[in-house]
Amino acid sequence: MDAKYISGIAEIDSQHEELSRLVDSLREVIAQKEKRHLVHPALKRLHQMLVTHFEYEEALMGMVRYTDLSQHMKMHRNVLKLFENYFDHPPLPGDHEHLGKLITDKVLGHVMEHDSKMVESVREHLNRQAGR
Ligand SMILES: [Fe+2]
Ligand SMILES: [Fe+2]
Repeated sequence: MDAKYISGIAEIDSQHEELSRLVDSLREVIAQKEKRHLVHPALKRLHQMLVTHFEYEEALMGMVRYTDLSQHMKMHRNVLKLFENYFDHPPLPGDHEHLGKLITDKVLGHVMEHDSKMVESVREHLNRQAGR
């Protein structure tokens, strides 16, 4: 993951790094026709990791009383919904690129834009507690 997205909160960073690895391998299997059968398991793995990750983030945001918690949670739900739609109605062959791109863009976009805002506020909270 790009250095500018490193938050300094170790657990969040390692989870984001794992997510970024899963997104990369999803992109890879989408890009190669002979690996199409691996798209579904790759999505399952990414989905599973996101469920755990979102729970962790939401607990953290609750702990620091993050003001945009409900909005942030709504975005998490929307990302998970993309996966659920995919699992409920798998796309026709040929639509994989489009769907895979949509999902990977949404996941990475969320991390880059909204998680960095959230992380900033968590850091401020920790600094206040430390009396800095
Ligand atoms: Fe995140
Ligand atoms: Fe998030």
